[in-house]
Amino acid sequence: MRNDRPKGPGKSGRRERPAERPAPRSAKPTGERPRPPAPAAVAEPPRRESVEEIARENRRDRPAVEWPKGERPAFRAPVVLEVEPGADYALLDSGDGEKLERYGPLTIRRPENQAIWPRRMAAARWDGADAIFTGDTDEEGAGRWRFPATPLGETWPMRQDGLPYLGRFTSFRHVGVFPEQAVHWRFMTETIERERERERHQRPVRVLNLFGYTGLASLLAARAGAEVTHVDASKRAIGWARENAELAGLSGAPIRWICEDAVRYAEREARRGSAYDIILLDPPKFGRGPKGEVWQLFEDLPHLLVLMRQLLSDRPLALVLTAYSIRSSFYSLSALMGEAMRGLGGTVESGELVIREEGEDARHLSTSLFSRWVSA
Ligand SMILES: C[S@@+](CC[C@H](N)C(=O)[O-])C[C@H]1O[C@@H](n2cnc3c(N)ncnc32)[C@H](O)[C@@H]1O
Repeated sequence: MRNDRPKGPGKSGRRERPAERPAPRSAKPTGERPRPPAPAAVAEPPRRESVEEIARENRRDRPAVEWPKGERPAFRAPVVLEVEPGADYALLDSGDGEKLERYGPLTIRRPENQAIWPRRMAAARWDGADAIFTGDTDEEGAGRWRFPATPLGETWPMRQDGLPYLGRFTSFRHVGVFPEQAVHWRFMTETIERERERERHQRPVRVLNLFGYTGLASLLAARAGAEVTHVDASKRAIGWARENAELAGLSGAPIRWICEDAVRYAEREARRGSAYDIILLDPPKFGRGPKGEVWQLFEDLPHLLVLMRQLLSDRPLALVLTAYSIRSSFYSLSALMGEAMRGLGGTVESGELVIREEGEDARHLSTSLFSRWVSA
């Protein structure tokens, strides 16, 4: 997939997450607008619609957001969810605009705009990384991987809480997993297991994973016993997710893999009256659907979140939203979540996902904002 960095409006204040799709855009056919006849036979390039035009067109028939009525849920903020160093992953060091991480057997060095402090480790540790992302550290730019000691393939074996999957060097700086998400995944699997236990395995727990990427959340949910719908706009990401499913021995698990624009899919599901007990939502700031649909977080999230509210089952368990690379605050996400969850009881917990460095004198690297509604 990724032409990772969105050519989104403005630059991000926050970090690096990827994730937008290449822009599969069709040119608007010429001749739609009357044009004066060309004096010479110089072919004009077909006029391309701007992102804003496409976005306006996508939203043209969208009804005004109907905010739910009733009491707002309880609120808890700030909540800082921390990823600790472990066998699967550790943030070894950070500083001077980079981070040094361990992903299973490999140490990886990548740009990290948030790391504006000095490093703790000697240069030799950094230079000895197995893979180094070099190139343009501008978030919009491409770059490439260098393997100082041994040339490595595109993928390598990884585990997440015992679930095998493939780490992968993508053409941008991403590695097929966002380690900070692990805290949401554990929360989700514990919630699924608790509910399955409570219901004596009689009631299936249904999970919707929108913007699902390489599928780890979907696979962990399925392993915990849930029925999962996984949606992503990138065919390539869906392919990677299915590859991970195979590796994890979960290719027969009840997971529906759907390559579609998240908003379009949610709208259709709402019309069909579908229902989910747990919903995960990790949207980029800017993204494209497979048919060129435009996703812009600030413009589209309220609509999507209210759709998510409609899709919650009559015994809902959780709705988890993460946001990254945006100029915003978890209080904004919290306020939005509170409005979307009016009348449902429960609690909205909001804050940041951070990764703690390994070893002494550890600092915390902030990765994203989150807001989650929980029924209990
Ligand atoms: C940051 S990734 C999500 C990561 C995921 N939560 C995880 O931790 O594995 C964002 C994903 O959104 C997808 N995406 C971008 N625009 C989309 C759209 N309009 N509809 C559906 N998916 C989209 C990208 O292809 C990418 O896989």
